[in-house]
Amino acid sequence: MNAALKDSIAGMKDWLVEIRRTIHMHPELMFEEVETSRLVSIWLEKFGLEVKTGWAKTGVVGVLRGDKEGKTVAIRADMDALPLEEANQVPYASKVKGKMHACGHDAHVTILLGVAKLFSAIREQVKGNIKWIFQPAEEGGAGARVMVEEGVLENPKVNAIFGAHVFPDLPIGKVGIHEREGLAATDRFIIKIIGKGGHGAYPHLAKDPIFAAGHLITQIHSIVSRDINPLDSAVITIGKVNGGTAFNIIPDEVSLLGTVRSLTPQVRELLKSRLEQLTQGVARSFGMDCRCEFEYGYPALVNDPEMSRLVASACARGIGQDNVEFIRPSMGGEDFAYYLEKVPGSFFRLGCRNEKKGIIHSFHSSLFNIDEDVLPFGVEMFVRIIDQYLGLELI
Ligand code: NI
Repeated sequence: MNAALKDSIAGMKDWLVEIRRTIHMHPELMFEEVETSRLVSIWLEKFGLEVKTGWAKTGVVGVLRGDKEGKTVAIRADMDALPLEEANQVPYASKVKGKMHACGHDAHVTILLGVAKLFSAIREQVKGNIKWIFQPAEEGGAGARVMVEEGVLENPKVNAIFGAHVFPDLPIGKVGIHEREGLAATDRFIIKIIGKGGHGAYPHLAKDPIFAAGHLITQIHSIVSRDINPLDSAVITIGKVNGGTAFNIIPDEVSLLGTVRSLTPQVRELLKSRLEQLTQGVARSFGMDCRCEFEYGYPALVNDPEMSRLVASACARGIGQDNVEFIRPSMGGEDFAYYLEKVPGSFFRLGCRNEKKGIIHSFHSSLFNIDEDVLPFGVEMFVRIIDQYLGLELI
């Protein structure tokens, strides 16, 4: 990277930290990112980008059209916080009770603003277009799906998209890349076993759905171990069991709620059909009724291998091959998957862990934090990726 670019990124650090802390202090939940969205659009307008607000309620899109013809590359940040009380004792801790940026989306927004600042200063060197996508509601609200449905990948038509997530499993200074599958499809189910209530002393006059549920829970855990190819990945977790009111009453029904994770459509469908079959089978064996509702969530996030290799080589040019790691997928979810269903791209990880600074806590923890060095670091990685994809040869 030429010295001037390197200096301008290094010189941005205080500005980046201030923006990140402002957002961090004012967390907003999904589809309510009004102030964050306002902050983003004010900066993008200052940078002279074409700005359009109101996407998916609070989303913002900025476009920089280069003077010369070329491809269109998009980068994306999510803006929402989580319903969680911050436990960090820092001057920039959340000022909103019960809300916190515990997943680092404040950092994602900040990094993309840094990239916008940098390119706006050298816009005459841009060949093709750069599109900045700031979306709401990554945390379960599928903001990305809404943005895609509203046409965010059109006009100008996006040829490739890149996104990143700060990543506490990797130390600061490292980039993690998933070559293909990066995160799981996140589906859920609600099972109801409908028996017949009665007195706990007279089970023969009732149909005990708690007993049936016990069998079903055991059966469900045979799906991953017996039906799925051991070389594939899958998770079924039953997170909630509801049923009963007192120690001596057999209830009418029991419900089981759970999450189902998979990395391929084949495994996804197999998990769904086996859950339904087992529920029906167990209920029938006890002479009970049942219902099994399977709700599709985010699809699996699948990177384009060529784009992942581009990210790896662009980052390695800045930080060396040793600091770029190809990492295994996670069974978490990420709605960036919706963009990748439409256009090739890659979603990668920016290490933000720093044991010396006590920054060791995982996502969605009330003690989650980032090493703020990841802000200029993230800007540099995105600049390198865009440079390489558009063939700008700035670096
Ligand atoms: Ni997140």
